[in-house]
Amino acid sequence: MRYDIITLFPDMLQGPLEASILKRAQAAGQVEVHIHNMRDSATDHHKTVDDTPYGGGAGMVLKVDIMDACLKAVLAEPEVAAIAPERRRIILLTPQGKRFRQGVARHIAERYDQITLICGHYEGFDERIRSLVDAELSIGDFVLTGGELPALVVVDAVTRLLPSVIREESPEEESFSLTAETGETLLEYPQYTRPPVFNGQAVPEVLLSGHHAEIKKWRLEQARMKTRRVAEQGDDETI
Ligand code: ADE
Repeated sequence: MRYDIITLFPDMLQGPLEASILKRAQAAGQVEVHIHNMRDSATDHHKTVDDTPYGGGAGMVLKVDIMDACLKAVLAEPEVAAIAPERRRIILLTPQGKRFRQGVARHIAERYDQITLICGHYEGFDERIRSLVDAELSIGDFVLTGGELPALVVVDAVTRLLPSVIREESPEEESFSLTAETGETLLEYPQYTRPPVFNGQAVPEVLLSGHHAEIKKWRLEQARMKTRRVAEQGDDETI
């Protein structure tokens, strides 16, 4: 999988890409992440990427012509151009996009070999930027300062689903196999490790029993309970 990320703040992306699974997947050649500074596509002396809004109002608006030039430069890179168009996607990160969920991550992991992620910023972007993209994604009902963190969320969630990456990350005996067998999409069952008792909380007896069939049954039940509990959470916004 190749990711191309268009941003005005490349520094926001570096750290998370240089740690853990994302780092390893890149080192192993399973994924490539190419970061493009939109400012490099600006043509004027001041490297202008935004402008004041028509009709007035506060804030600056990302320019569609510069974004278009930046996108064209990405798509003209030989390694991108060599990928079949139906295996590529241009995605804009915005709170107004389709909700990014596990199923969307799975779809991207299975269907595409290259995605271009466009990070919006400042107070907004020219509406016509929407005409340049295939899809818009939101990572949730909250407003961030820009699309950089959402782009990283997409990269992370998709990368761990790539066949070559997951095989190394998780051995067969994981909640995934429970999910696969029953066809349900379940949250993780609870896990425990030493010590056997912490603050009076003991590890469930069944996990110490060595009885594999019982353990599997217990984990499935717990995963179902957890999934139901989360689904029943209300809209109360206090924590
Ligand atoms: N940009 C700002 N907030 C966002 C969100 N919640 N999802 C995607 N892109 C965003």
